[in-house]
Amino acid sequence: MKTKIFEINPKRIDLAKIKIAAEEIKKGNLVAFPTETVYGLGADAINEKAVAKIFQAKGRPFNDPLIAHIADIKELYRLSKQVPPVALKLAKAFWPGPLTLVLKKSELVSGIVTAGLDTVAVRMPADNIALSLIRESKTPIVAPSANLFGKTSPTTAQHVADDLDGKIEMIIDGGKTKVGVESTVLDITTRPVQVLRAGGISLEKLKEVIGQVKISKELEIGFRSPGMLKSHYSPQAKLILVEKKGDTQVEEIRRFASEYIAQGFKVGIMVKEENQNKYNGFEVKVIGKGTELEICATNLFSTLRSFDKEGFEIIIAEGLEEHDLGLAIMERLRKASTPK
Ligand code: TXA
Ligand code: MG
Repeated sequence: MKTKIFEINPKRIDLAKIKIAAEEIKKGNLVAFPTETVYGLGADAINEKAVAKIFQAKGRPFNDPLIAHIADIKELYRLSKQVPPVALKLAKAFWPGPLTLVLKKSELVSGIVTAGLDTVAVRMPADNIALSLIRESKTPIVAPSANLFGKTSPTTAQHVADDLDGKIEMIIDGGKTKVGVESTVLDITTRPVQVLRAGGISLEKLKEVIGQVKISKELEIGFRSPGMLKSHYSPQAKLILVEKKGDTQVEEIRRFASEYIAQGFKVGIMVKEENQNKYNGFEVKVIGKGTELEICATNLFSTLRSFDKEGFEIIIAEGLEEHDLGLAIMERLRKASTPK
């Protein structure tokens, strides 16, 4: 299959192009498109055959459920038969935006979308291309991140093409995504509600709106013993995350890097801007200032992918602070650095 690439300026959307992409969705084909978080691989959420193609293209196991993307809050009531007040409160505060709500599914939602669960994940993305594609397709669109399963998520159309060229009908190129990490996944079928995946809406922001929020077991285990996590978000290079603070962090990274270089490996270090001069003689890429976690999130996946493009075999990453978007960044770095 020849993958068509459509450039669309997010500030001046060419509706004719969106309509062509929407036709592909209606036909049951796959279209990758930008969202504010990462690029998604879209299919008609109500068409089981189309949904199955997503799993095939990504090499994703069927036991990993998908997020349905909507452009109108009314769609939430079609996808879920039980929309609690907390859902509306959260939607009002954060939609469109990087928050995914898990709620009881309706009959309309097939088990292939939810991996057989009786819940469905829904979000309204804050991206005009995504929203107009959903509107023109006249159906909710399921979209996982548009990368091969287990790999780093794509924040540009080029990243999508690197993984999926020839496997999908179309890629809409709307430039670089803003947030850079995926949406926060929040299960609101339990009390208190619980965060299943840290993401673009921080725990701090959620707490401001709904008070109590729990962190799921898996997330918590990940914070205590990252070795327990399933590997995900992985670059091709082996990734080593060094979580120590201050000078100890720098010293440990320099020691690791020297050891691997002595063994003949090409080693790159992902560092906070304020530390870049502490690694003279080593190859470094800057993720952003340690105090500007939103910018670090935006740069995370593209920095990891650029190490791969340049043939680095080992990436050593400085750990970041774990508040605000730092939590989402660290969750991803831990999963990416899980032994393979
Ligand atoms: O920002 C995002 O969320 C991006 C963009 C494209 O919207 N999408 C994304 O999709 O990250 P994906 O498939 O890569 O991640 C979906 C996450 C998975 O961790 C999955 O386990 C969880 O959502 N999920 C989906 N449905 C669920 C459900 N019913 N219950 C619990 N978790 C669910
Ligand atoms: Mg993903």
